[in-house]
Amino acid sequence: MDNFWATLKKPVLALAPLSGITDSAFRRICKGFGADVVYSELASSTAFAYLAQSTHDIVRFDPSERPYVVQLFGNNPEHFAIATRFVTREFSPDGIDINFGCPMAKVFKRGAGAALMTDLPLAREVIQSVIENTPLPVSLKTRTSVKGSDLLSLLSYVEDLDIKALMIHGRTYAQRFSGPNDIETTREARTLFKGMILANGGAGNSTTAVELIEKTGADGVGIARGALGNPWIFDQLKAALNGGLPVKPERQDVLKTALEHARLLIELKGRHGIIQMRKHLCWYLQQIRGGKKLKQTAVNIESLDDVAALVARAAEQDLGG
Ligand SMILES: Cc1cc2nc3c(=O)[nH]c(=O)nc-3n(C[C@H](O)[C@H](O)[C@H](O)COP(=O)(O)O)c2cc1C
Repeated sequence: MDNFWATLKKPVLALAPLSGITDSAFRRICKGFGADVVYSELASSTAFAYLAQSTHDIVRFDPSERPYVVQLFGNNPEHFAIATRFVTREFSPDGIDINFGCPMAKVFKRGAGAALMTDLPLAREVIQSVIENTPLPVSLKTRTSVKGSDLLSLLSYVEDLDIKALMIHGRTYAQRFSGPNDIETTREARTLFKGMILANGGAGNSTTAVELIEKTGADGVGIARGALGNPWIFDQLKAALNGGLPVKPERQDVLKTALEHARLLIELKGRHGIIQMRKHLCWYLQQIRGGKKLKQTAVNIESLDDVAALVARAAEQDLGG
């Protein structure tokens, strides 16, 4: 099967995985605004092994999202094998990613996510298990180090395995989601790893994203929180990389996109989609003048009609100055 990573034009702009956020609705929105590749939120390989339906819903996608990568987490190579075969057969995404970076206690304490970086033999078994059970390209998303176990040692330990891409969150396990990005480790990874490298961490706008690509020498960038309420970041970054000025979306565009996002999310998840849309609306409202005043309304929406009414009010407020 094709390695889609090799067909992408560099620098590659990826929507990085965000649990509870990068669902099919948000991925479609980001794809529409220039993301070159989108990741699912982390999905449990163990849940696949036990046929949990909710996990199927996490990875289901629309063809418009392609190229689309499903991210699996866990710590049992046999569960990874079952999940990989199942996802490949039933969903046929473009790639499979293994989570080596999640620091959250409920994942880490079970020896999964970032904890995999601390057990090289197990890490190797997991990667092998995924590679052997799919013709799809396999990638890893890692930290720079976890409790003294560093990325470069992991890369040396698995250098003979056919890993096609790496997204490096340039922070340690202890840093979790803030603090400086360790540019140097990503640069050094370049000398050990021949596949696609995406730098990640702290690329919150097109300026910081360009800087991250340039300083790390990576083939592209993974953007996570920078896309919240601002899926335009991908087009803005493309403009900046081509020497242009990033264009801020017009108020009407923000509101139109928020409404479309709500429609997709509610169609996909019903009541749960309404609840999840509340936070997205707050993020969209940060993009427009006076948006803050509507946050209280946003956190109380109960239907798509409520979103439409909020959008209409926000549009009118602008007309009124
Ligand atoms: C709320 C939240 C959920 C996340 N979920 C995932 C996930 O499911 N899988 C994963 O590999 N990383 C996950 N991450 C990490 C992000 O993909 C990314 O590495 C991190 O946020 C740094 O990138 P940023 O500065 O662009 O946000 C999550 C981060 C946050 C804040």
